[in-house]
Amino acid sequence: MSLIPKEVVDQVLVQADITEVVGDFVSLKKKGQNMWACCPFHHEKSPSFSVSPAKGIYKCFGCGKAGNSVQFIMDVEGTSFPEAIKYLAKKYSIEVPEDNPNPEYAKEQSERDSLFIVSDFANKHFQQNLHAHEQGGIGMSYLKQRGMSANTIKKYELGYSVDEWTDLTDAALKAGYQQKYLEATGLTIAKEDGKKYDRFRGRVMFPTHNVSGRVVGFGARTLKTNDKKSPKYLNSPESDIYHKSNVLYGLFQAKQAIRMQDMCYMVEGYLDVLSLHQGGIENVVASSGTSLTEGQIKLIARYTENITVLYDGDAAGIKASLRGIDLILESGLNVDVVTFPEGEDPDSYIQKVGDTAFKAYIQEHSQDFISFKTSLYAAEAKGSPVKKAEAIREIVASIAKIPDSIKRTVFFRSCSLIFDIDEQVLISEYNKMQLQDRQQQQKQDGPEHFMAPPFAEPEPEKPISDMDMLKRYEREIVRMLLNYPNRVLEEGMNTCQYMLEQLEDVEFRTPLYARLMDLIKDKLCDGNLATAEDFINHPDQEIRTEATNLLSDPHELSHNWETHHIFVPTESDLLPYGAERAVLRLKWRNVELMIKGEMEKLRLVTDPQEQIQQLTFIRNLKTLHCQLGDMLGIVIG
Ligand code: UTP
Ligand code: MN
Repeated sequence: MSLIPKEVVDQVLVQADITEVVGDFVSLKKKGQNMWACCPFHHEKSPSFSVSPAKGIYKCFGCGKAGNSVQFIMDVEGTSFPEAIKYLAKKYSIEVPEDNPNPEYAKEQSERDSLFIVSDFANKHFQQNLHAHEQGGIGMSYLKQRGMSANTIKKYELGYSVDEWTDLTDAALKAGYQQKYLEATGLTIAKEDGKKYDRFRGRVMFPTHNVSGRVVGFGARTLKTNDKKSPKYLNSPESDIYHKSNVLYGLFQAKQAIRMQDMCYMVEGYLDVLSLHQGGIENVVASSGTSLTEGQIKLIARYTENITVLYDGDAAGIKASLRGIDLILESGLNVDVVTFPEGEDPDSYIQKVGDTAFKAYIQEHSQDFISFKTSLYAAEAKGSPVKKAEAIREIVASIAKIPDSIKRTVFFRSCSLIFDIDEQVLISEYNKMQLQDRQQQQKQDGPEHFMAPPFAEPEPEKPISDMDMLKRYEREIVRMLLNYPNRVLEEGMNTCQYMLEQLEDVEFRTPLYARLMDLIKDKLCDGNLATAEDFINHPDQEIRTEATNLLSDPHELSHNWETHHIFVPTESDLLPYGAERAVLRLKWRNVELMIKGEMEKLRLVTDPQEQIQQLTFIRNLKTLHCQLGDMLGIVIG
């Protein structure tokens, strides 16, 4: 990276206004001396990110990130200091000598910079062609016919390569650019006999930018719809500045929206990106025909953890998305999937149905990956136990890729509901896979390789405190009670009656849930069944918040299932089973904690007679624990 002159840096520091710089990324609200916003660096619901215009700095009281304008750009864009200075220089129209396409200067730059500069020249040249060249009208009318607005064309810097052999090469050489850089970027192709010609001729040009907005390569679409001889799209070859596995088409234009929406739509093609962006869905990027790579996912992860993959409805599209999904999961990101009707891609579909209907469609058809993958396999598995077992293995294999153990646990649970199969069966399938993986690893690494025990329970292997675990089980009870209070579980017994009877002598230990249980009992004493809605306006903030959470977390599967004519039981359908297990789990946990407590007491007892009594008591508790475990299908080692 070349040095940026000190004058430029100074000028940037003087001119950059922190509220303007930050304001490009988050919407700031004035409160007292400072401006406030939700932090762009961590997920939060109420603003703890402050900007002091007087001091020229930002600080987040949530995550601790702080600094001046330059630091902000470095943090938010994940760039180096010089890149941040260049960004700000561009914003404030401060000239950075490096970006000046003076041929003399270009020669002195490092190779990479020369490639950037010549790509930038080509990009401007193609745009000029589109707007001013006598052949430009052909490209323009094609783009209009594809529904592209002037705004979109400008924002994505679309261009046109005229249908002549050396238009770009001649122009670049004349302007003083060196042929070797034209060749290195693939813009010019040189033959052994010295003849040279333009790679892109008579095509609409789509420049690809890196995250800091510099052009690194091009995609070029032919205008001929039915020409089998030349490919529909020609792309720049790999170069020192263009590594296809590390760029995403449209990310530069989308990154701010991705951060704001905390979600990124992933499509396949250039025109998918443009059409969606134009339709108001600005958080969209494309992998441009290649299958998704880890590098590309890492790029997205700078801005959000949530990806929604939009793929064509054909079998190839679906297969491609399965591979991508596993990769996204491995990277620890969350992934949803939307498929389109046979023969449609996101571009054709939004052009066909319009923005509003399109948005509604993706809302309705967005599935978490488990539902998506399950729907693919469930149809096949119907009526065939062998197929069902295969399907379950497939899905468990995907779940196994999720690094976060809590997320894994959630997916195991939802998978167990969908397939109506005990969680424990899934866990042991998972354990088997882990074991095989390790044995594989061991073979490769030699026998001294450490072998960790597989995990044996539907619990994450990260240590979670007993109280946290108990809290989850208590929450589950309260959630079911408040979401389905009067569902009849068995003859003459609804959820509320069942749970309260079963848990009559179980004390809730999490204060919040103990209070909620008391409130539910109070209501019942007045002859009413309490629902979460009864508590969302409760005077106590904590109760309000939790009631809202419980209400918005009903574990329901998407309605999509019905349209696919696949019967998938909802939680509500499985409630008798779910409620019984929730009760058993809580009891099981409680007994376990009692055993721990009594063991502690035992250590303090010195009198032999008392010791025996205490031991007998513990043994009885252990028997009870085993019985509850048996009922849950949990095998205790
Ligand atoms: P598609 O064939 O689905 O094209 O390829 P598309 O995006 O729908 O294009 P239109 O709508 O016909 O214009 C998806 C993506 O795969 C890459 C391109 O990035 C394209 O956008 N591709 C496709 C190529 O690189 N080369 C090709 O020959 C075809
Ligand atoms: Mn298309």
